[in-house]
Amino acid sequence: MSQSLTLRRPDDWHLHLRDGSMLRAVLPETTRHFARAIIMPNLVPPVVTAADARAYRDRILAALPEGADFTPLMTLYLTEDTDPEDVAAAQASGLVHAVKLYPAGATTNSASGVRNFDKVRPVLEKMAEIGLPLCVHGEVTDADIDIFDREAVFIDRVLDPIRRATPGLRVVMEHITTSNAVDYASAQDDTLGATITTHHLVINRNHILAGGIKPHYYCLPVAKRETHRRALRRAATSGAARVFLGTDSAPHTDANKLLPCGCAGCFTAPNTLSILAQVFEEEGALHHLEAFTSLNGPAFYGLPPNEDTVTLTKTGATYPTQIATDDGPVTVFDPGFPLDWAVT
Ligand code: DOR
Ligand code: ZN
Repeated sequence: MSQSLTLRRPDDWHLHLRDGSMLRAVLPETTRHFARAIIMPNLVPPVVTAADARAYRDRILAALPEGADFTPLMTLYLTEDTDPEDVAAAQASGLVHAVKLYPAGATTNSASGVRNFDKVRPVLEKMAEIGLPLCVHGEVTDADIDIFDREAVFIDRVLDPIRRATPGLRVVMEHITTSNAVDYASAQDDTLGATITTHHLVINRNHILAGGIKPHYYCLPVAKRETHRRALRRAATSGAARVFLGTDSAPHTDANKLLPCGCAGCFTAPNTLSILAQVFEEEGALHHLEAFTSLNGPAFYGLPPNEDTVTLTKTGATYPTQIATDDGPVTVFDPGFPLDWAVT
């Protein structure tokens, strides 16, 4: 008899859905397995105001596949002009569940992000007051800081000072990639959560750079050396309450990935659950998978866990290598090993 595993239906606490035809193409890949997702606001133009978020939510709902049961949890893109009262009203109406901080220039469509952190102080204070989480892309962008050090430097120079200056502010360290971030997150109180992506549990920087450059493994923050991947695996599979799944599934067409200056992002929505089951099994921690995918995230965001379930069976799983969009194919993340666990 094949082994099986039933989990409360997972949520994705960091997801890029894009817009238009890309949204329609990638949305079913998430709604098939996930009940809710924190939706990233880095569109062009970005989702800055409550009105923007409401309109984007309506476009997502209109693109849902027939019969899908999925709730998009909207976020606002923090700019130096963000109005604290607009943010508070967006939360009070139940529309918005977090505000996203991109340091300007850190990643895809981050040009409208924050340069001077003093300018967003009133918004952060309002968020601390109303308990609205700040989701943080934690990398400095200074040209003199090595790209592999940008996360660790951000913690010292930006994140920790912000948290000290804004007591009570709830912060999610998103897509952490280093043992430095794991150590920092573990040492904090329950105002701090951390998400880990699927791909950072699977690849290290060799996967991107050794034996030829692999653009489909290039994402931001960039994957680090193996010791860091090991630390992320220990954190994700530990069952620790403030660590949860945020896939950062970030679709780009192959035409935009395979360029002299290609886009950052791994598209993991289709096969994330199969990959995670295998990672957790390898680490002897299948009993902690549900905490990571389905319990810890809702607890941090103050939402109930989902009532329905998904079942995985160890029968082998296959996924398409690409999905089609009107703008051309998007390549699905290749974990580099055959997948044992199928979502049934
Ligand atoms: O790899 C990434 N892709 N990291 C990000 O921070 C943004 C994302 C995207 O939007 O493509
Ligand atoms: Zn992201």
